[in-house]
Amino acid sequence: MATEQETANAVVNGGAATGSESLTVTDNRTGQVYELPISDGTVRAMDLRQIKVSEDEFGLMAYDPAFTNTAACRSAVTYIDGEAGILEHRGYSIEELCERSSFLEVAYLLIFGELPTGPQLDRWTFDIVHHTFVHEDLKQFFEGFRYDAHPMGMLLAGVGALSTFYPDAKQIEDPEERYMAAVRLIAKVPTLAAFSYRHNRGLPYVYPDNDLDFAGNFLSMMFKKTEAKYEPDPRLARALEVLFILHADHEQNCSTSAVRGVGSSDVDPYSAVAAGVAALYGPLHGGANEAVLRMLRRIESVDNIPAFLEKVKEREEKLMGFGHRVYKNYDPRARIIQQHMDEVFEATEYNALVEIARELEKRALDDEYFTSRKLYPNVDFYSGIIYEALEIPTEMFTVIFAIPRTAGWVAQWMEMNDDPEQKIARPRQIYTGDRGRDYVPVADRKGPEKIVGPPARRPKRPRRGA
Ligand code: SDX
Repeated sequence: MATEQETANAVVNGGAATGSESLTVTDNRTGQVYELPISDGTVRAMDLRQIKVSEDEFGLMAYDPAFTNTAACRSAVTYIDGEAGILEHRGYSIEELCERSSFLEVAYLLIFGELPTGPQLDRWTFDIVHHTFVHEDLKQFFEGFRYDAHPMGMLLAGVGALSTFYPDAKQIEDPEERYMAAVRLIAKVPTLAAFSYRHNRGLPYVYPDNDLDFAGNFLSMMFKKTEAKYEPDPRLARALEVLFILHADHEQNCSTSAVRGVGSSDVDPYSAVAAGVAALYGPLHGGANEAVLRMLRRIESVDNIPAFLEKVKEREEKLMGFGHRVYKNYDPRARIIQQHMDEVFEATEYNALVEIARELEKRALDDEYFTSRKLYPNVDFYSGIIYEALEIPTEMFTVIFAIPRTAGWVAQWMEMNDDPEQKIARPRQIYTGDRGRDYVPVADRKGPEKIVGPPARRPKRPRRGA
């Protein structure tokens, strides 16, 4: 039965609330009325296809560039409430997982849906730890990169190359093959990540150390020199472990959507995850943490903040690390990162950039331009400052993001493959081009006498945010 408020709203809109879980839609072109069922807060886009003027028409589609208001799947992995700033994995709050769990335990939770028992966690940890090595041929593969190749480019290629070492992973319905792909990806991505750093530095590769935990082993592969055994500072290893937990999954973000989209062609999981690495590389997504540090360095001093914020308002700059498609409140991950910054600075050099970051946040959150657009710090705003304190170079920040996100990508890839509603992703389009043009021989074509710069594209559309 419709509530008073629903009746009032419906009357305002000239209709009568019937209380049924449906939309009643009138096509004003024909006067035809349609009943569209509502389920889980959505209407099915395919239910629009029945709405047409004449029978031979294709029917209506939904138009949603960048999928800002389109649910592409059902998922039980991660829940986000953007207004309330809530993030949960399989029902457990991110705050509690950071406080009490480990990254490998969270990876298990994301993929298998439950916190592992003791024996399950032991087996999972054993399997991961015993698959951290990569084939020696991959070292030669990495030798092919320039010394200054961006590590995300090397990671992207390295993860794609893994698919050539495990061809049986193409049997994506085989539970054993899926499990082994999950283990190998979670175990080997840190090794490839560390190799990309060592390649950039011209240092010999450091093999995994099975005595260390997940974060400690990564630090060892990154920073071990001539000492017999690398001893990570437990405070830094724990801070990195928390950052890994914070970055493990985040529902249908750009890179996860890429993994799901590419994976929907039934390609092997290594190739699908390589697509996720590629999407994460972008400065609007995983590349933002690298962009934040570069932005803080460019600002250089707290005194320059007002002028910088003016440039942001004039759209000459973007406030990197701020804003989010879903969070219209403080990203809970940013809060947790801040709580760990002081611990990290106890064990490392204090980073003056943190003053600029904190003052920048304060000024922005006092400024109607940002608050009116619900722009708050996201996970990337402070994470780079911690990575820098761990002596991780800026160009490695997004690689560090990719390491834990591999667990989320694998969990989402598996869920997509198990979802009976899913099939190969193939969106439609609104065609805006020409039709029925006659071919013109090259000798008869008109154009500029002098060729300067790249060919002009038609139709030129204004860039986003212009
Ligand atoms: C991640 O999706 C995920 O879950 C991602 C992630 C994950 O864990 O996977 O959380 C990780 O990618 C975090 C986001 C990291 N990116 C950045 O920090 C880059 C800076 N942020 C922006 O580029 C932007 O906020 C996005 C891309 C994050 C979100 O963009 P939306 O949702 O498309 O928002 P929008 O571009 O439509 O912006 C709305 C308004 C616009 O102003 P108007 O044109 O309406 O006047 O806000 C403005 C934008 O110009 N705006 C910004 C801004 N972000 C948005 N203005 C200045 N600085 C910014 N950072």
